[in-house]
Amino acid sequence: VEISIINGSPRKNGATGKLLQEIGRSLSVEYGATINYYNLSEMRIDYCKGCEVCYQTGKCCIKTDDFEGIADKIKTSDGVVIGSPTHGSNVSAYLKNFMDRGHFIVEQSLYNKSCFSLVTYEIADGRSVIKLLKKFFRVSGGTVKGSLLVKTAFNQNPLNERQIAKRLNNQVKTYHASIATRKGKSLFEHIFNDVIVVNLIWKRYFKKHPEQYKGIIKSYQDKTIHARLSRLQ
Ligand SMILES: Cc1cc2nc3c(=O)[nH]c(=O)nc-3n(C[C@H](O)[C@H](O)[C@H](O)COP(=O)(O)O)c2cc1C
Repeated sequence: VEISIINGSPRKNGATGKLLQEIGRSLSVEYGATINYYNLSEMRIDYCKGCEVCYQTGKCCIKTDDFEGIADKIKTSDGVVIGSPTHGSNVSAYLKNFMDRGHFIVEQSLYNKSCFSLVTYEIADGRSVIKLLKKFFRVSGGTVKGSLLVKTAFNQNPLNERQIAKRLNNQVKTYHASIATRKGKSLFEHIFNDVIVVNLIWKRYFKKHPEQYKGIIKSYQDKTIHARLSRLQ
């Protein structure tokens, strides 16, 4: 089992980082998973230019930064864990740019991957960010198998609170079990993603704009990545 963990906090050892490190440790030591761990704040990831060249060619026009390396690792991963602090009722700017650069939604880059959302916050609106992340996962083809919302004071180690450590352990346990047993999407996720997002929205849109989305259609036809989406054309 291979899992990619993405820390969207600007502080690699902040509350979000401490929780993600524990998730990674537990998945690796207790469950034997291979972990790819990324601190977005330590990587060079330029802003998305919004050019949509990737829709036509299947490749981003920015080739000189660290993004494609992470994208390749995500492709081979069974699961993805994304963590973010709440910044102004939203994900961090690092994470938002990562989400844009990955063209995850149009490319269905998380198709059938097991996803885990982690959000920390101090006062209010962490729940909105958890919802944003879950929707991002599901609209990108993923299935949500773990989720942790943690309210914590600034610069405290949330793991010092026994309740939080216990919730984390429980979530990691179910998350790993869902990957090990290859538990797929829930009925709700299947209807939301496969039926509505892919078939009703993208498929129709691609048919109207085949040239503009040439690269994406081709990526769906690549059977090693998107075997079940290859019927799209
Ligand atoms: C720019 C900024 C905006 C923030 N906005 C919110 C917010 O809207 N709601 C909230 O509860 N906490 C907010 N916080 C607090 C952080 O979400 C909280 O301290 C978080 O646990 C920090 O995670 P970290 O230690 O990984 O950086 C904000 C912090 C910063 C720096």
